[in-house]
Amino acid sequence: MTYKEKIDKARLPQHIAIIMDGNGRWAKERGFDRIVGHQNGVVSVRETTEAAAEIGIKYLTLYAFSTENWGRKKEEVDALMELLVDTIEKETPTLNKNNVRLLTIGDLKRLPEGAAKKMAKCLDDTAGNTGLSLVLALSYSSRWEITNAVKEICEEVKDGKLNPDDITADVISRHLDTKSIPDPDLLIRTSGELRISNFLLWQLAYTELYFTDVNWPDFRKENLYEAIYNFQQRERRFGK
Ligand code: IPE
Ligand code: IPE
Ligand code: MG
Repeated sequence: MTYKEKIDKARLPQHIAIIMDGNGRWAKERGFDRIVGHQNGVVSVRETTEAAAEIGIKYLTLYAFSTENWGRKKEEVDALMELLVDTIEKETPTLNKNNVRLLTIGDLKRLPEGAAKKMAKCLDDTAGNTGLSLVLALSYSSRWEITNAVKEICEEVKDGKLNPDDITADVISRHLDTKSIPDPDLLIRTSGELRISNFLLWQLAYTELYFTDVNWPDFRKENLYEAIYNFQQRERRFGK
């Protein structure tokens, strides 16, 4: 039986988040430049999005570029931005065909102008879709997001719109970029690294974590289904 067949369709995680890691190592192992790893990673993005949509996942968040990733060599950053824009443009018709809505989280103001414009167009073109929500974390880091939320909340207190006694966990959630998105049920990280790397620190409070040694460019539908099946074998207690 395949993992896809083993999955209980009645108990799917509503939201899966993925730290897509290992592109550079995948390329290095094959004697290629790092960017070849990123190019092959696009195939995995397509496969994973399709796999999630096929089985009926509601939200899929992909960590595509962190605020720390701006610190990589200029050639790699430029190549990643170009790849991103190209992919978004090329994939928009497929997203529409599959009823997928694109959303983004992160500091998009830091994106090059051309990239930001094309991203905005894809967001607009897919806004009416009602199937899977594909959330791209772009120029994202959790500490950046939380810092922003604190600033906004302080402004509201300063303007007399909010009483400090009324600040709850819910108020904080509503000031994060993920305000319209439920917390992830399952987090997957590829490439064998066992860390969170500044991703969704607040939202992952009760998320189930799944780590695999597979490098992102090798990740395929069945790898996603295996992670979902593994998730379904766990007992979530939420401290109760
Ligand atoms: C993940 O792969 C993609 C991004 C962070 C943009 P890496 O580029 O981090 O690849 P490794 O971890 O160096 O192998
Ligand atoms: C995390 O991977 C960021 C993304 C996958 C976009 P990194 O490769 O940047 O993280 P570290 O440096 O291994 O922690
Ligand atoms: Mg990495």
